[in-house]
Amino acid sequence: MSLDFFTQLTSIVYLIAAVFFILGLKKLSSPKTARQGNLFAMIGMLIAVLMTLFDRNILSYEYIILGLIIGGAIGAISAKKVQMTSMPQMVALFNGFGGIASALVAFAELYQQAGDVALHENITISLSLLVGMVTFTGSLIAYAKLQGIMRGAPIVLPLHQILNFLLLIGSVALVILAVMYPTEYILWALILLVLAAIFGVTFVIPIGGADMPVVISLLNSYSGIAAAMTGFVLGNSVLIIAGALVGASGIILTNIMCVAMNRSIANVLFGAVGTDGGATATGEKETRTVTSYTAVDAGIMLDQAQSVIIVPGYGLAVAQAQHVLQEMAQILMDRGVKVRYAIHPVAGRMPGHMNVLMAEANVSYDLLLEMDEINDDFQDTDVALVIGANDVINPAARTKKDSPLYGMPILNVDQARTVMIVKRSLGAGFAGEGNEMFFDEKTMMVFGDAKKVITDLVKTLKAE
Ligand code: TAP
Repeated sequence: MSLDFFTQLTSIVYLIAAVFFILGLKKLSSPKTARQGNLFAMIGMLIAVLMTLFDRNILSYEYIILGLIIGGAIGAISAKKVQMTSMPQMVALFNGFGGIASALVAFAELYQQAGDVALHENITISLSLLVGMVTFTGSLIAYAKLQGIMRGAPIVLPLHQILNFLLLIGSVALVILAVMYPTEYILWALILLVLAAIFGVTFVIPIGGADMPVVISLLNSYSGIAAAMTGFVLGNSVLIIAGALVGASGIILTNIMCVAMNRSIANVLFGAVGTDGGATATGEKETRTVTSYTAVDAGIMLDQAQSVIIVPGYGLAVAQAQHVLQEMAQILMDRGVKVRYAIHPVAGRMPGHMNVLMAEANVSYDLLLEMDEINDDFQDTDVALVIGANDVINPAARTKKDSPLYGMPILNVDQARTVMIVKRSLGAGFAGEGNEMFFDEKTMMVFGDAKKVITDLVKTLKAE
């Protein structure tokens, strides 16, 4: 086989892998085809990895195989074991590992060539070190915040943004120095790695825990950029393509989340919005009372309804009540009640959280309707059943100008004839904003853990 033929074969195989990546991404955009999308992306990655193993001048396969076995086992076991509510922190860790891998490969390349690299290589290596390391430490902080290892509330140091600005300027200056004086490459690279590591930490600590999904998506994009840079360093086109796709999709996802919350990316990154744990009360003492109903009252009401729209939120995921909720919805549908689910784009704590949760409980995709599709239907609905959701139905988003929620489109549950809200207390949601809906005369508050309440509802419905 001539070298030319092999080079061409490599390019064609890489192109096929890239087509699989793109088709995978396309299919990931709908819950119906998302599993297939994942499969396509996995096939693309397998093709790319196998071709790279043939294409490269590999000195020893032993370490690579060992790494594949250990890494593959860690990946498979953690993906199998992770709870749905812990998915964002797992993605954060994987992003971080992607970032450090890119930085280490770039450093190894620099070291191997003793700094004697072409200008364009030097630029990409330095950027790979910078972006990869920021992604690594930033992702670790995001993981620690979501996992409760450190406080979720924003941690703001004196002159924080000035510090961040100086760290960024310092890092960029080192990239320039590394490019201008490559003979001192080890020194520049090491200082750059340290500064980038500090910057990753100071960049993420002032951001509130519940905004972490946005940060993770942004860091995901960075890890893609770092991988693409490393692709340039290694002259590997499929790594450049895969990195660029991750970089672009991460940015698009970040933007989608910001638009859905009606917040700018600057507000998320620099606004220090959020409280510890993301779901505490406003701090003001509430003196008004609400009418509290039992699960039996709620069951009787639901049994009489002809149409019900279920609004799932973060609390449903925490309580893991999706299966029993599906059972309840099925009982109602068997009795001729029109049941649908209203999915707010930022309900829960990660993009598509509610879709994944409902898919896990085998809820038919046709019953899951996006906010824009279903918002006008609340006015013709008997019961809006809100389960563990708060901010996504909070009218403060329409009226209260100083609220962090102001401007966020919400689900029009207040237009339904009755609003039934299942949660444990009058506590606020992530935004820390009190909710007037709890005090509305058409609202029935049913206090308790979502799983317990819905299990009791199912019992009541079965008994009737
Ligand atoms: P939240 O507004 O956070 O409200 C969740 C509610 O669930 C809480 O008020 C809590 O009240 C209740 N809850 C917690 N555990 C429960 C349990 N075991 N049983 C019953 N209820 C329970 O959630 P949401 O309405 O889904 O809104 C999501 C928020 O996260 C939005 O502010 C959004 O901007 C933000 N966010 C989302 C994303 C994405 S991509 N989804 C990204 C960044 C930020 P109690 O404590 O009284 O039970």
